[in-house]
Amino acid sequence: MTLILGLETSCDETAAAVVRDGRAVRSNVVASQHELHERYAGVVPEIASRAHLERLMPVVQEALEQAEVGLSTVDAIAVGHRPGLIGSLIVGAAAAKALAWSLGKPLLGVDHVRAHLHAAQLVEPGHEPSLPPEFPALGLVVSGGHTTLYHLPELGQIERLGATIDDAIGEAYDKAGVILDAGYPGGPAVDRLARTGNAEADGLPELPVSMLGRDSLDFSFSGLKTALLYAVRGQPVGRGRDARFEREVGDLPPQRRADLAAAFQRAAVEAVVRKLDRARQQRERAGTPIRSLILGGGVSANSELRRRVTDFAETHRLGLHLPRMDHCVDNAAMIAGYGYELFRAEEYAPLDLPVVATTRT
Ligand code: KG4
Ligand code: ZN
Repeated sequence: MTLILGLETSCDETAAAVVRDGRAVRSNVVASQHELHERYAGVVPEIASRAHLERLMPVVQEALEQAEVGLSTVDAIAVGHRPGLIGSLIVGAAAAKALAWSLGKPLLGVDHVRAHLHAAQLVEPGHEPSLPPEFPALGLVVSGGHTTLYHLPELGQIERLGATIDDAIGEAYDKAGVILDAGYPGGPAVDRLARTGNAEADGLPELPVSMLGRDSLDFSFSGLKTALLYAVRGQPVGRGRDARFEREVGDLPPQRRADLAAAFQRAAVEAVVRKLDRARQQRERAGTPIRSLILGGGVSANSELRRRVTDFAETHRLGLHLPRMDHCVDNAAMIAGYGYELFRAEEYAPLDLPVVATTRT
């Protein structure tokens, strides 16, 4: 039995978890900082790092207590060390290094984006484990920082097929939340508002589903975001800071706001599903058809995306690996879970493990 303590501080969640043998979640504690960033309508890096500093050790303590293990019992310390907000990553990495050094246990440096793809493998106490994915698989990470599509030819192998060329889908959702005055964070708020709206209501402007080049597996969401802004506030006069709009979001009838949220959600999710299908067809033409689909990241909690990928997987007879709702957004169980793979491979990190703000993985 291997117990890994995972730490996650890449953005605005301070998290610690204990996971057994890479899958069984013994504890998963997440202290969200939403209340600290809400008034700025986005994550303020400096505030985030200070909050991590204050909260991390109490969160680690809580994770150990809930798992009913002592620090001396854990076999290794895993930490998300890339990509993310640099000041936030430093806090988690420094804590993990100090723990690993003082306990004489291995340190494991985990890529946050890859860890999102591990989240669907996690099993909470009292739940049956799902079957592991069959390969080749497609992997999709949709979060506030990433929209990245992968090909996983076999276990342990991963190739990046495409990524966003501008905004990540979660970032577009968060901006849509501001444009529609739906609440913070925008993703779940727009998802909720969209449920009361009709994407086909009369008189709605068509919102773009960006496909880029004919064979492209990249994504683009900034055009959709701008189209939503104009749909809500009218065509601007002037540019940049001097732009003047015809109206405010508050001038719209509530039903219209909900309809626009539904139209935005439909276009955003449609773009993702079409790219998945494009990748599926490309693998089929290459003679190595994919057998399963693995999702992860905050936006994989989106109700419409979950519905659409469920249909997609059924239509094409693919195994579907969707994380539980609470494993979609940032958490440390996925860090500990993926850390186990590194532990097994004895890929230990040095105590001068660097933190990295952006990666191409
Ligand atoms: O994975 P995550 O916690 O952090 C990153 O690694 O970026 O993802 C956070 C993102 C935010 O943009 C949030 O608005 C979005 O996930 N999100 C959602 C939903 N729940 C969270 N977006 C759309 N619908 C949701 N239900
Ligand atoms: Zn994340």
